[in-house]
Formats: sequence, C-alpha cells, structure tokens
Amino acid sequence: MSKKILVTGATGTIGKAVVKELKSAGAAFKAASRNVAAGHEKLGSDTEVVAFDFADPTTFNAATEGIDRVFLLGPPLTLELDKLLAPFIAHLQINGIKRVVYFSALGAEKMGDSLGFHNIIEEQLKLENFDYTILKPTFFAQNFKNYEWENITERGITFVTAGEGKAAFVDVNDIAKVAAKVLTTDGHIGKQYQLTGPELLSYAEAAQILTEVTGKPIFYPNPSPDQYRGALAAAGAPAFVADYMINVYSIISRNEAAIITKDVELVTGQKPTDLKTVLQRDFAG
Ligand SMILES: NC(=O)c1ccc[n+]([C@@H]2O[C@H](COP(=O)([O-])OP(=O)(O)OC[C@H]3O[C@@H](n4cnc5c(N)ncnc54)[C@H](OP(=O)(O)O)[C@@H]3O)[C@@H](O)[C@H]2O)c1
Repeated sequence: MSKKILVTGATGTIGKAVVKELKSAGAAFKAASRNVAAGHEKLGSDTEVVAFDFADPTTFNAATEGIDRVFLLGPPLTLELDKLLAPFIAHLQINGIKRVVYFSALGAEKMGDSLGFHNIIEEQLKLENFDYTILKPTFFAQNFKNYEWENITERGITFVTAGEGKAAFVDVNDIAKVAAKVLTTDGHIGKQYQLTGPELLSYAEAAQILTEVTGKPIFYPNPSPDQYRGALAAAGAPAFVADYMINVYSIISRNEAAIITKDVELVTGQKPTDLKTVLQRDFAG
C-alpha cells in the first residue's frame, strides 16, 4: 500500500492551501497540528489531522506512522528555527523518511545572520542526503491581507521598511499548486524552485493598486527603520519583531528581491497570478 504525505504547518496560510490542492489531487496525506480539534475546524472534518509539535518529540512517532514524504514548514517569526526543527529532522533520518519538501524563502541567504535558519536547514538536508526539494517563495501577495489588514482598511497605509525596492509578490495558491505537484509527482528530487509572481512592484506601486481595488486612498509612507521600530513598540509588539521584519524587508529595500522566475509555470504549467487579482479577491467588496 502506498504511504502518505505528512503536511506540517497544515493549519496556516500555506498549509491550508496545500491541503486544498492535495485533496483535489486525490493524494493521501495527514495534516499536522498542535491542536487536532482546531485543525479539523480549519481543514474540515474529512481531513486526517494528527497531533504534532516540533517542540515535543513524543508526538513524532504517531505523526510519521505510515508516512514516506514530508512537507516541512516552520512557523514564522521564530528565531533559531533550525534548532526548533532539528529534533524532527533527526527523527526523519533515523526512521528512513528521506523525501522532504522544505519550505524556505527566496533571498533567505541575504536576510542577515539572525535569519540564517532557512539556509542552515537547506544545507543540513543536502549534507544528510535527504531526497530534498527546496521551495523558495518570494513575499506572499496575501501578506497585505494577513499582516496589514488594519493598516490598509483603517489607517489607509501599507507600513513596511521596503524602501523603494521591488518584489514579485506571489499568490499563496500558486505556491500551493507547486507544492502539491512536487509532493505527488516524480522528477523534483534535488531541485530548488524560486517561486515568484509575474511582475516587479515597489510598495508605492502596490499601494496604488490597493487604492484602485479598495476605492480609498492607500499611501506608502516608506518608514525608516527607527520610525518602524517606534510604531511597533507603540502597538505593543515584542521588541524582536521589528528587527526581524526589518531584516526580512531589507532584501527588498536593497533591491535584492527584484527577481522574476518561471518556476511556477515550469512546475504547474500555469502562469502565476498577478498582485491585483489577489488584492481584488482579498479586499474588494
Ligand atoms: N510571508 C511571506 O511572505 C513568506 C515568504 C517566504 C517564506 N515564508 C516562510 O513561510 C513560513 C510561514 O508560513 P505561513 O505563513 O503559512 O505560516 P502561518 O500561517 O503562521 O502558520 C504557521 C503554522 O505553523 C504551525 N506551527 C506553529 N508552531 C508549531 C510548532 N511548534 N510545531 C508544529 N507546528 C507549528 C501552525 O500550526 P498549529 O497552530 O495548528 O500547530 C501553523 O499551521 C515561514 O517559514 C516563513 O519564513 C514566508
């Protein structure tokens, strides 16, 4: 009997979209969550949800029973993600589960030492002879809805330290289509896919699109790092969050994320979705 895929991060932005694609492909999988009941609520009662916590090795055996492939996604805003994931990667190695599709980030190697974790994990999978595929998506088009809803709808701004650099925002649904293909078809071992949308846009240009889509003026104030730190501190965010986000967005402000690839189309056969289409879905009406 063929084995199943374990989807980690299954209840999050990417994971939910991956689960949807795996269901439509008719693939056999288990969805991992720290909270099985909440997982069923988010993914549907027809989804097999298994208790799983990277920080709790006692959950690993049951989660990987009957599994031969893993979609490996670590939670965001986690300094030292490599240390959080290390016990689980060791468990996969010991149990001969070699096929791992790792969810990294485009430009991760340029985000500074404190965000070096994606690189460390990529290198580990290579050195330890996993049958790996690395997905390196750029900034999600859905970040505007997920992280900036109140800024955009209540304050009329989009507020990140991206300077005047550009990125090719990618639709989460396109990423999920790639992930599902890579998990369910042959020919992807040892490959790395850089996943982008079809056009390079600055935050000022994204704000212009948000203005058209919402019918309200949305402005990009291009804050300095100090202004950004001040705003997050005033909003009560933990101190490390501002520096983490400044490091992430520094690859846009230095124009190092100004990359368009054909990898979404290469893997799925479909052209990637543009930012305006995603923002219309997320903000119009
Ligand atoms: N946003 C971007 O533009 C962007 C771009 C490139 C790459 N990325 C990468 O994307 C990843 C984040 O993906 P996302 O936005 O889909 O995340 P998300 O929506 O915040 O979801 C995080 C997931 O991680 C699970 N999780 C949290 N702590 C866990 C733990 N200790 N053990 C097991 N599972 C745990 C959560 O599941 P439960 O709560 O159900 O346990 C949830 O399903 C990060 O690695 C980030 O670097 C993001």
